[in-house]
Amino acid sequence: MPNVKGFQSLAVALLAALLPCLSQAASSNQIRPGAVWLDNRGQPIQAHGGGILHYGHTWYWFGEDRSTGQDPRKHSVTCYSSSDLEHWKFRGYALQLSDPEHLGPHWVLERPKVYYSPLTHHFVMYMHLDNAHYRYAHVATAISSRITGPYKYVRSFRPLGLESRDIGQFVDDDGSAYLIFESRPSHGFYIAQLSADRLSIEKQTAFLAMPLEGGALVHDQGLYYVLGSHMTGWRPNPNVYATAKALSGPWSEFKQIAPASQDTYGSQSTMLFKVTGKKQTTVVFMGDIWKPRSLWDSRYLWMPLQMGDGTMLLPPPSPWTIDTKTGVTCVSACGAGPN
Ligand code: GAL
Repeated sequence: MPNVKGFQSLAVALLAALLPCLSQAASSNQIRPGAVWLDNRGQPIQAHGGGILHYGHTWYWFGEDRSTGQDPRKHSVTCYSSSDLEHWKFRGYALQLSDPEHLGPHWVLERPKVYYSPLTHHFVMYMHLDNAHYRYAHVATAISSRITGPYKYVRSFRPLGLESRDIGQFVDDDGSAYLIFESRPSHGFYIAQLSADRLSIEKQTAFLAMPLEGGALVHDQGLYYVLGSHMTGWRPNPNVYATAKALSGPWSEFKQIAPASQDTYGSQSTMLFKVTGKKQTTVVFMGDIWKPRSLWDSRYLWMPLQMGDGTMLLPPPSPWTIDTKTGVTCVSACGAGPN
């Protein structure tokens, strides 16, 4: 049995472990998976199928604007910024487009992602461009000298000459940038390196023979983790991941990110991003909880992942906090669920 001194040091150790949680809870910087997430104007964040770009000391979130009452012939990509990943300021519509390729009524613009080019100092947006039947299967690009836009439409094309639908984004630690895209005829998805100006595809880096959507990728502790969802449209399914020591592979078998019965807690992957703090690095799962009948009310599921030794686990959703300076997270086990 520990003596008095033993208890004292135990209490000190416990307090030290709890301190980050207590101070973070006090600042009420909670990210609440599944809840309505309001921006600085008090309006629900409209950034579905989105992407995050960490630029300078600020996080930028780009995504699909699915708000009601819009002109159905137009699509907008929103931009929000934040320094703490919880409070987001609406920075306007980074891109507004009216059917640039004459695809007809109900044309599709999905999953916008923004890259920075250290060569040209421009920002380049990639997005999935399609017609109402998802037969066009192209990516489109748009460019801006300012991160928040306005972005100017450049062109649409098929990466590597292949059909491309859901896209994902990855920038490696050495600054090289990649587009992930699902290609139905090949029954799998591609990781393709972008050119230094980010305006075109340089080469194929890997092909994974697994038809996955919502493709996402992260590099953590010497391993690459690729993640995606099965192809069930807006309906959630058990998302899966694989690992490799090099982007070009060989890639491991796919494993489940959460118990299969949970269907990724009702969400679909859209991106993985890393918060590299002074004390720890946290990898965040960024997912969409789609509501197909009321897409404008679709929600977000962001959770810190449990990473290590080739495993990547999505814990049950629960409110959490992160200190973006230290990278330390605190997940409240007994917090309120989605509302
Ligand atoms: C999903 C895809 C979404 C959207 C939807 C349409 O699988 O991830 O981005 O395209 O299908 O049904």
